[in-house]
Amino acid sequence: MTKDAKAASGEQAAGPRHIAIVMDGNGRWAKKRFLPRFFGHKAGVDSLVKVVQACIDRDVEYLTVFAFSSENWKRPSDEVSGLMGLVLAAVSRYLAKMGRMGVRIRIVGDRDAVSPKLRNAWNEAESATAHNTKLTMSVAFNYGGRWDIVQACKAAINAGVPAAELTEARLSEFMAMSYAPDPDLFIRTGGEVRISNFMLWQVAYTEFVFSDCLWPEFGEKQLDAAIETFRERDRRFGGVKEAPAVAGA
Ligand code: IPE
Ligand code: IPE
Ligand code: MG
Repeated sequence: MTKDAKAASGEQAAGPRHIAIVMDGNGRWAKKRFLPRFFGHKAGVDSLVKVVQACIDRDVEYLTVFAFSSENWKRPSDEVSGLMGLVLAAVSRYLAKMGRMGVRIRIVGDRDAVSPKLRNAWNEAESATAHNTKLTMSVAFNYGGRWDIVQACKAAINAGVPAAELTEARLSEFMAMSYAPDPDLFIRTGGEVRISNFMLWQVAYTEFVFSDCLWPEFGEKQLDAAIETFRERDRRFGGVKEAPAVAGA
């Protein structure tokens, strides 16, 4: 079925409601320009601000971006501290703008390991935008899909959920992003074709689009191409789309 026919039948609402992005390729973008990797991350923040606006313009309700993985601590300490500083600078530079755009910011990840300064900035970003409803942007920071599953199990145990009552739906309530529907579309820039421990639990039926575009070069055009690809996909969730022909019917 063509996209238009699908839309006409209302079979697949335009969507996607929720886009998750692995913003990869900042380092290579900088390297191509003979710049230190930090400048790639800096350009990556500007790219993110543009993509947030583009998502709002396209009625996307949830955008989840992978900003720092549980494994990114393995990077050289100057890159890690550069990234932490960049986040603080980005919060002070863009928080008011995000607020005006109607963005609700939420942070997902293990906050225990980040500095108190960064924790305060996250808390401020969340509380200052808590009333916004246009787009929920979740920033996955010191986040890992495996960390999320383990913390959800611990939280369920601490809440006294008996093993016999632990269903998929019940455990989902304890996942870091229980407030959002599962992502419809997963985009990874930078040419690598892997998940790198992003939302392992939530991507069970997400559509994947991998782009060679380096994150600082990703913009509206590439977003539209990914959305177009998504809309051409036939999501079946394990079922069958067309009613099977019944003999003699
Ligand atoms: C992604 O870009 C950003 C973070 C992981 C923080 P990279 O820094 O991984 O860029 P490449 O993959 O080295 O080009
Ligand atoms: C994934 O990218 C994490 C983020 C984009 C924040 P990486 O660059 O860390 O992933 P690998 O190492 O190539 O798998
Ligand atoms: Mg990378």
